[in-house]
Formats: sequence, C-alpha cells, structure tokens
Amino acid sequence: MSKETFYVTTPIYYVNDVPHIGHVYTTVAADVIARYMRVSGREVMFLTGTDEHGQKVEQAARERGKTPQEHCDEMVVRFKDLWRRFNISNDDFIRTTEDRHVKVVQHFLQKLFDSGDIYKSSYSGWYCVPDERFWTEKDLVDGNCPDCGRGVVQIEESNYFFRMSKYQDWLIGHIEGNPDFIRPESRRNEMLGFLRKPLEDLCISRPKNRLHWGVEIPFDSDYVTYVWFDALINYVTSPGYTTDDDRFSSFWTNCTHLIGKDILTTHTIYWPTMLRGEGLAPPARVFAHGWWTVEGRKMSKSVGNVVEPNMLLDKYGADAIRYFLLREVPFGLVGDFSHAALVGRINSDLANDLGNLLQRSLGMLEKYRDAVIPPVPSDAQMGDLSRELVEASRRAVAELEEHMSALAFDRALKSVWEFIGRANKYIDSAAPWTLSKEGKDTKLDSVMYTLFEAIRQVAVMINPFMPETGQKMFRQLGIAQKKDLHTITSLKSWGGFQGGTRTFRGPALFPRIEEVPEVETGKEQDKKSEARSQKPGDKGMENVVTIEDFARVELVTGKVLEAEAVPKSKKLIRMIVDTGEKRQIVAGIAEYYQPADLVGKAIAVVGNLAPAKLMGVESNGMLLAAHDDDGLALVTFDKEVGVGVRIK
Ligand code: MSP
Repeated sequence: MSKETFYVTTPIYYVNDVPHIGHVYTTVAADVIARYMRVSGREVMFLTGTDEHGQKVEQAARERGKTPQEHCDEMVVRFKDLWRRFNISNDDFIRTTEDRHVKVVQHFLQKLFDSGDIYKSSYSGWYCVPDERFWTEKDLVDGNCPDCGRGVVQIEESNYFFRMSKYQDWLIGHIEGNPDFIRPESRRNEMLGFLRKPLEDLCISRPKNRLHWGVEIPFDSDYVTYVWFDALINYVTSPGYTTDDDRFSSFWTNCTHLIGKDILTTHTIYWPTMLRGEGLAPPARVFAHGWWTVEGRKMSKSVGNVVEPNMLLDKYGADAIRYFLLREVPFGLVGDFSHAALVGRINSDLANDLGNLLQRSLGMLEKYRDAVIPPVPSDAQMGDLSRELVEASRRAVAELEEHMSALAFDRALKSVWEFIGRANKYIDSAAPWTLSKEGKDTKLDSVMYTLFEAIRQVAVMINPFMPETGQKMFRQLGIAQKKDLHTITSLKSWGGFQGGTRTFRGPALFPRIEEVPEVETGKEQDKKSEARSQKPGDKGMENVVTIEDFARVELVTGKVLEAEAVPKSKKLIRMIVDTGEKRQIVAGIAEYYQPADLVGKAIAVVGNLAPAKLMGVESNGMLLAAHDDDGLALVTFDKEVGVGVRIK
C-alpha cells in the first residue's frame, strides 16, 4: 500500500443494549475522522461491531426462548440499521460470534499459553454477576461492586490467568515515552496513577458449568474465554491478524481506538499487555471521551431519560445531530444533551450562518450571472477584501488540519464557522448589489468567483461532519461529480472551482425550527411535580423560569481583545471579544472602566442576543455586570477559563 494508512475503531457495543446517544457519539466521531482522513488522502479502515458473548446475552436469549446465536442475530440489526441512518461509513462490522474472530481469539490464547504467559490457578474472589467481573476484597465499595454498586457473590474456582503483572514496568515506560498513547492528558495521568499500585494477573477464563456462551479455550474444553479478553481481540481480527499479514501490519501501526472513559482500564492496561505478550505493538492512540448527560442528569432507564436516537433522527435528521454532538462539547469532556441546545445550534449555526450563506449567494449568482461561476480572477483583479478572504481560508484549513489531528472536533468546527462568518461579512462588505447597479462588471465577476470558491471550501470542510449536507452543497454548486474538488488537498491552493460551472439553487439546507419540541424526561416530570406541590405565592415562586427557558440564553465565556470609547458617547465602549469567534460588543460601561483596563479581561457574555445598534454601532451580544450604588462590577471568573465555554 503506497498511501499512508489510518485505522480507527469504536468499542464493539453489547448486542443486548438498546442503542442510545452515547453509542451514537463514539460512532459518529469515528465516522467523521474516517471520512476526514479519506478526503485527506489516507488509506482508511474504520471498524465498528458488536460484543456478543457472555452471561447477559446467554440469559436474555433464554428468557426469550431463543438460542444465544438467534438472539444476537436479531439484536445486531438495531445497530446496523441505526448506523445506516446516521450515514456511518464503516469498512467492516465485526461480530465476536463470527468464525473469523473465534479463530483469532483461540490463536491468541494458544500462543500466550505456549509461551507461558497463561497459567492455571485456583482463585477465590468476589464476583459481580451482571458485570461478569471479579473484584478483590479491597476493591469493593460498602461490600458491593465498585462499578455498578450491585451485590457481589464469593466464588472459588480454578481458572486460567494471564500474566499481566509481568508487563507492568514495560507498560509504565510505554505510557511515559508515548504522550499520544492515552488521550486526553487527564486520562493518561489517571492510568499512570492506577499503575502506581502493583498490577495483578488477569483471570481470562470462565468454567463452562457457569457460562457456556463464549469462545472455548483451545487448550481446555471445560472453559470459555472471559468476555473482555475475547472482545478486545476484535481490533486485530478485522485488519487481518493471522490471515493477511500485509494488510494487518499496514493498518495496525496507525490505529486509534475511540472509547468512553468507563472502559479506559481494559483498553490501556489489559489490551496493551495482552498485545505485548502476543508479540504485537500497542495501538498508536486510545482516546477516551466523556459521557453525555441528559438535561443535567445521568442517562438511565430508571430515570426514563435515555435519548433514543431513532426518535431524534425522525425529528432533526442525521446531520444536525452529528453536528451538535461534535460541536457542543470538546471531545473528552462531559456533554449535556438538551433539545433546546440542539435546536439553538440548528437555528443559529446551520440555518442562519451556513444555510443563509449558500442560499443568498446562489440567489445573487442567478440574478447577476445567470447561475454561472465567472472565470478565476487574476491577482490584479482581486481587491483587498477578497485577499483577506483567501487568507482567512488558508487559516481555516490549517486550523482544521491541526484540530482534526488532535481529535478536537469542536475546535475544528469553530474554525470552519469563523470562516463562514467571514464569508457572510465579505458579502456585506463587497456589496455585489452595488457593483451590479454601478455596472462594475469585472469587479462583480471577481467578487462572485471569490465568494463561490469560499463556499466550495466550506462544503469540503463540513462534508466529513455532515455528509448529506456536504453532498447537497456540492450538488447545488454544480460539482457533485468533480470528486477532486471535494478533497482537503484541493483546499491547499485557492482557485479550484472552474469558471463556467453552472449552479442549481435547491431548498434551504436547514429550515429554522421555531418551537422546541416537548420531550418529557424524568427531570421534567420531577420538576413539574415539584412545581405542583408549591402554591403560587410561595416564596421564590414569582417569575419562575424553566430550565428550558434558561437554556435558551447562551451564556459563554469571552476575552476582551480590543476596546475603545465610542466617539461622541459618554457611556459606550466598543469591544472586540473572543467568544470562540470574534464579535463586536458595545456596552454602557465607560463611566466605570477605561478601555485599556478591559483588554485581556475574561468576561461573561450573552452570546445569542439579537444584534442591536447603539449610537449607530452594531453590538452582537451583551456582557454581564452587577450594578449597585457604588458602581459597576463585571462578572468574571475565579480561575482561568478558555473562551467560548458555555456557562450553565
Ligand atoms: N462491549 C464493551 C466494549 C468492548 S470494546 C472491545 C462495552 N460496550 S457498551 O455498549 O456498554 O458501551 C460502549 C460505549 O458506549 C462505551 O465506550 C461507553 O463509554 C459508551 N457510553 C455508554 N453510555 C454513554 C453515555 N451516556 N455517553 C457517552 N458514551 C457512553 O462497553
């Protein structure tokens, strides 16, 4: 293979689970990076699948009167269908019950057994039946499973063990010597902390008298393999370990595992030591993302707030959800899902910024140039405004590349949206309508070309995130078939769009959503009953807002970059504030603050306030301050925070 490779995986999901927004999150993230790497010229392999062995599956099948295999065959469809609806572009879907996988697991075990890394021993310990995990006495929390909090039972039996302890020093050295191996940094530190205690050997078998549904241990038919040991091996089965050496070695060297924070130990302690015993290298990178809560609460069946992805798809479509999940929170941190926040993003970022840019530009091209892209302007034909836009595009592409290689999806999107903002401003400043009225044809050609090349670049950059929208844009731009204009490489030099291309105006990419749909979560039910139990007039009941009302106000952190007094005004100061994007805010604080004192200050900003003009100067947002008889104090923070962080 001549191209550089990129291999990305999701966890393989428990086949019994009903797919929820957490599963969607990891899979969408993996899909975005896979698509991005493909259009960046890499040879990509993207793997997802299902984890089908173990006690819970055996039990669920029994309850349904099915064989475990029949049960799995029925359940797996829910994942496969959902991934189709989300336009997930996986190259392979692995199921741990497939023959190809069972063979590799047995090969793996035999090799470790032959080299002496697997031994038999009698074991007594505390066992959590639902989690299928042994715990030592000191692991237990109040006598219960430290993971799920449920009761544990004492079990004594003979089992096979993997000499994980033998690889502890090597693993510490590997983590320390490879800063990218565990990401983000906080998780790397967590694992280094974990490794300060001695590692125990890992029990990797289950006697068949307790569990049948698993991969039989090749050297002892009375046992099956522990489900985690079996599951992790999926990552090497698919690219061809033991079956296709070339393919395997070319992809394995560039493997990124995306996982949730709860399965960090299995992926960064068990897995690399297993591979080491087998004589294989660890994956290049394991990235653990945070969990999603729903309206501020942990998602759980008992609370009744599990976000069902099919329902979301029906309401909002795949692209809006994909965008929201990756834009809303930095990959690695905790995210909170709410319909209000999702609708907010759809209306402001997708319908307003992106949708309007395309729609108004296509309208103007139709009106002024019969929907045909003018020729590429020469350098001399481009004015300063156009040159600035070209420069902004270079910056956006460079930032996109930097953030994508760090899996900082939110920042990548922020950079693209900054560019979209610039393209919208370019229209306002270049004013094609005036050029047309004044008959400045050459200038108008140059402006329309520059605008459409910018829009093409936007389409290329958003395409991995929102593939349906990307394709719609390519179609409307008249370049659906021109695959060479869809690549990141095509953004490296300005002017890929060919003059003479005919565009086609289609329906709006994202119609605005006027109402936040009512979806009753457990939290809302609690809130309602709480409100019912309070009588109107009770203290604290006046002017009550719901959490949805509050969530409509987008409060974000910002940093003042520039400040100056508004001429002829005693009160107003004009500021340029970085809230993830640069915006102009005008505030009536000149009696209390000197402009120079404001520069560099971290402030709280209402980000989604309708723009207003104060003494003719446009203000996009409002800063928060407390005003009393002694003067005015800006709301600021008691420790350093980044810009554009949501305040809740
Ligand atoms: N089968 C194992 C993985 C084996 S990989 C060799 C497993 N499956 S799972 O279905 O329970 O979980 C899969 C993933 O979903 C995990 O990465 C987990 O972190 C993630 N999530 C489960 N709930 C989640 C949220 N509420 N939010 C985000 N991700 C969540 O573990």
